[in-house]
Amino acid sequence: MPQPVLVAHVTRHGSTAEVAEAVGNALREAGLPVRVAHVQDPLLVGEYRAVILGAALYMGRLPGDFHHFLSRNRHVLSTLRPWFFVLGPLSTEEKDFNAARQQAEKQLARHSWLKPEELQIFGGRLDIQTMRFPFSLLRHLPAFRQQPKCVMDVRDREVIRAWAAGIARQLRSAA
Ligand SMILES: Cc1cc2nc3c(=O)[nH]c(=O)nc-3n(C[C@H](O)[C@H](O)[C@H](O)COP(=O)(O)O)c2cc1C
Repeated sequence: MPQPVLVAHVTRHGSTAEVAEAVGNALREAGLPVRVAHVQDPLLVGEYRAVILGAALYMGRLPGDFHHFLSRNRHVLSTLRPWFFVLGPLSTEEKDFNAARQQAEKQLARHSWLKPEELQIFGGRLDIQTMRFPFSLLRHLPAFRQQPKCVMDVRDREVIRAWAAGIARQLRSAA
């Protein structure tokens, strides 16, 4: 049995977890064994042949759990060159994607030893009705009071699938 690929993520409201599952499914369809996990699950990163890491931006930052995972696994990750996907933009405008990329790059640069294979920005999702505290306080903003059932979902399944399929091709040609 070949070594599996790890897709590890952090999520607050579920959208990054769903993208991680979609990435995992695309890799499986390409014939690769995959484990999809939360970064807080017990994981031995050195057991995987490749690592794909995902998180979402909140106020320009990646979650503390995500940074802790990177620091905790520094030795393995510094040799593995992980792929990263970061969710954020809630519009399809290029300027929002560029801003999210800049935010994500700045966050990853906190780990000067890290050499990502690639950083991919995906659109995000926001459902104002299901937000947990303290994000639920957004419901009191005038913009959301006027749209109490507001849902924005900018995730593009085809883009996600194509990105994962590209990684699968790279891994298969390296095998
Ligand atoms: C309070 C709040 C702050 C956010 N800040 C940013 C941000 O700074 N940059 C960005 O690109 N997206 C931002 N987003 C969008 C989230 O990254 C997006 O909703 C993502 O899909 C959430 O992922 P999760 O469902 O896995 O928690 C923000 C969303 C919320 C609710």
